[in-house]
Amino acid sequence: MPASERRRTAPRRPRYTARTADKFELYQLAVQSPEADLAFVARHYRRERGREPLHLREDFCGTALLSATWVKGRKDRTAEGFDLDGKTLAWGRAHNLAPLGAAAQRVTLHRRDVRERGDRPADIRLAQNFSWSVFKTRAELGGYFRRARQGLAAGGLFALDIYGGTEATEELEEQRRIEGGFTYVWEQARFLPGTNDYTCHIHFRFRDGSRMRHAFTYEWRLWSVPEVRELLHEAGFRDVRAYFEQSNQDDEGSGVYRRDDSGVTCRNCAGWVAYLLAFR
Ligand SMILES: C[S@@+](CC[C@H](N)C(=O)[O-])C[C@H]1O[C@@H](n2cnc3c(N)ncnc32)[C@H](O)[C@@H]1O
Repeated sequence: MPASERRRTAPRRPRYTARTADKFELYQLAVQSPEADLAFVARHYRRERGREPLHLREDFCGTALLSATWVKGRKDRTAEGFDLDGKTLAWGRAHNLAPLGAAAQRVTLHRRDVRERGDRPADIRLAQNFSWSVFKTRAELGGYFRRARQGLAAGGLFALDIYGGTEATEELEEQRRIEGGFTYVWEQARFLPGTNDYTCHIHFRFRDGSRMRHAFTYEWRLWSVPEVRELLHEAGFRDVRAYFEQSNQDDEGSGVYRRDDSGVTCRNCAGWVAYLLAFR
């Protein structure tokens, strides 16, 4: 995800080095903000439905940080996470679920493709950090959206984030200092204009000069907002809304998202992030 667009705060931590740091911990500190993300989607669900969302499905859950944060928030909440990577899920079980104690029993992690069925219909289903871009054709992405809709409870909300901007197709490297003592580097290594296929990496750099190269690599397609909206509608979602992140005075992401279906508020900036909220 573009470094300039995701601003996170993190508690002070001991100094990290490439030898001692854990790449999953660095990833969570650098690019995830579970409380803010969950508050945003829950607020919109409540506003639309007039009731509390209780069952969350986290697609591409990785370390399941959102699922863990969700069940911590209320005793009547449950969550299911889906990811193909057993090692990442195991890290999440040990570091995000185990500390929850009994509440961890309200989270079920599935080592399965996101297109597979869950245990029960979700009130809110999330596909965060652009992970759905792994689907590179209309048939694949549309198929995923159809299954996402089918897996929602009546009136459920499917939320995904998307990014773009004039720099989105450039081969570039952006870096951002993370509080706690390391630098997060987002590299758009290769972009193919004929297919919109691109290869991105996350690297980390440390104060002692050491580096962790290619901590994470993604092979994605860069999709546009109108393409994704159309596919969501074709998949049967009746109402699809776009919320663009607003810039602060320094022209950085503020963490505040405003309803803006045309994207006029981002003034065609170099890099933007938006949420798409699709109601069943
Ligand atoms: C960018 S990480 C997302 C981690 C986390 N959800 C987040 O919000 O930051 C992408 C994750 O998607 C998983 N993944 C990729 N394709 C998948 C698929 N078809 N079904 C399930 N998981 C998949 C990968 O194993 C990886 O953990």
